[in-house]
Amino acid sequence: MVVREKSARGKVRVLFVCLGNICRSPTAEGVFRHLLSARELTEKVTVDSAGTSGWHIGEAPDERAQEEALGRGIDLSDQRSRAVRPRDFQDFDYIVAMDGENLADLQRMAVPGARARLCLCTDFAPQLGIRDVPDPYYGGPGGFGRVFDIIEAGARGLLAEIEQGLLQRG
Ligand code: 4NP
Repeated sequence: MVVREKSARGKVRVLFVCLGNICRSPTAEGVFRHLLSARELTEKVTVDSAGTSGWHIGEAPDERAQEEALGRGIDLSDQRSRAVRPRDFQDFDYIVAMDGENLADLQRMAVPGARARLCLCTDFAPQLGIRDVPDPYYGGPGGFGRVFDIIEAGARGLLAEIEQGLLQRG
């Protein structure tokens, strides 16, 4: 699957979405940004994250998520939670949900004719054989390591797909 076309602004835009935008999707944003830097793609691909709920608007990522990411060399401390907004469905090429519930919520919120492709993070890591990135919020700290690994696999797979699309367009 290849993104239909580059946006009118000439960039591919990716939005990661979870429930609170303090654990999983900020991790995905940080991991994806890290990969973009390593591949020197920050001029061609942009990344953001948001929550289907507005429960944590303005908050920094959960400390457990920050600690896990920092242990892997990724600093999430500058990120702040925001809620998904209607124009996201026009502004982004990919809206990547962390679990099936997030995806169903996004499908309900989507505006008709939106450009964004709604998908799951694990769509890009079929080798894992799972659908959901589990919600780590009420689990112990061990959950965040597993969540990071799943997200990293999905982020790598998504970036590979986007890079292939960029190459084909030249
Ligand atoms: P996230 O995790 O969706 O990965 O950010 C959660 C954060 C907060 C809550 C649930 C999940 N909460 O119930 O407040």
